[in-house]
Amino acid sequence: MNYPPRPTWAEIDLAALCHNLRQAQNGCLTSQRIMAVVKADAYGHGAVPVTRTLQSKGVCDFAVATLEEALELRQAGIDDNLLVLGGCFPGQEGAFLTYDLMPTVLDVESALRINIESVRLGRQLKVHLKVDSGMGRVGFLLQQLRDFLPQLSQLDGLVIEGFMSHLACADELDSSVTTEQQDQFLVMLQMLREVGISPREIHLNNSAGLSGWGCSECTLSRPGIMLYGGLPGDDFETRLDLRPVMHLRSEIAQLRHISAGSGISYGHHFRAPSDMLVAVLPIGYADGYNRLFSNCGQGVLSGVKIPVVGRVCMDWVMLDVSHVPDVKVGDCVTLLGSADGMLISGDDWARQLGTISYEVFCRIGHRVPRRYLPLG
Ligand SMILES: Cc1ncc(COP(=O)(O)O)c(C=O)c1O
Repeated sequence: MNYPPRPTWAEIDLAALCHNLRQAQNGCLTSQRIMAVVKADAYGHGAVPVTRTLQSKGVCDFAVATLEEALELRQAGIDDNLLVLGGCFPGQEGAFLTYDLMPTVLDVESALRINIESVRLGRQLKVHLKVDSGMGRVGFLLQQLRDFLPQLSQLDGLVIEGFMSHLACADELDSSVTTEQQDQFLVMLQMLREVGISPREIHLNNSAGLSGWGCSECTLSRPGIMLYGGLPGDDFETRLDLRPVMHLRSEIAQLRHISAGSGISYGHHFRAPSDMLVAVLPIGYADGYNRLFSNCGQGVLSGVKIPVVGRVCMDWVMLDVSHVPDVKVGDCVTLLGSADGMLISGDDWARQLGTISYEVFCRIGHRVPRRYLPLG
């Protein structure tokens, strides 16, 4: 059946994505390619359309977090290099082989398990070996790598296609951790080469890394957030020229004349100080419009910033439009992104919510349809 959707949507500006890709490419050495991080549904922007757009601009290496995310891309016909950052869990080996997916190998156990299945099928699987150069999360520590290398070089079912690590503090430009991680990474790479393993791909840098720190040995950089217009850290505000890709918009469902003293929304945490005109939008915290915006969020309507009044509900939010001229039901309010030359960025949300723009974008709910603005 054909019917119009609830008028709340996230506009995805693919031209802005391409602009941000160029910024990432400009930040890398010319010898490096971009491995675009499109995990978590491309940070909430839609993995398939984002990947296709980046493909059209020449990107042919992509990283996701899970097997399921990789399969979504394969099923959409994307046959480029796909790296699964989260590794290969027990029982998933066959799927990696069938769909030609590359797992990161995070430990001895998964290396041996993948090798057994590859050998059993008379195949080889390309993998990226991940080392922990200081992130303190997953991957081989130096001593673990040293102990494992003799055995690793004998595993005929694996091709060590890539060697990688992840940076913990690259968003802080004065941190010594990154230089220590870079040094450690190169030491471990050398250990690998000494046993005759020479991975074709070497990669360390995320958005912050590629924008602030070089890596002359690297063949790839793995940006995520900067592709979507989010800053990798406060230090990058003046260094990067990024454009917002996601714009969250909703149309006014009701206009209400509220008399002075009336309470608005759950708990009556807002009481009208004077007679007011209040717009009700069909969007709420179930859509990713965080409840912490109660009484302090903002929208843009007709070039005016309008404040949220009362608590954000699961499906509704109220804003004061008393000072907006000619407001009417159906007018479009922008809660995230740009409108009329004004911007409420993912980083603005993040500062207000005490989080990072990564989480802001990922939390825009599934029930918010994504509308893709063509490249033009
Ligand atoms: C292993 C790995 N590489 C690259 C990235 C991309 O990082 P960013 O979004 O900061 O560019 C991530 C994101 O969390 C990651 O986990």
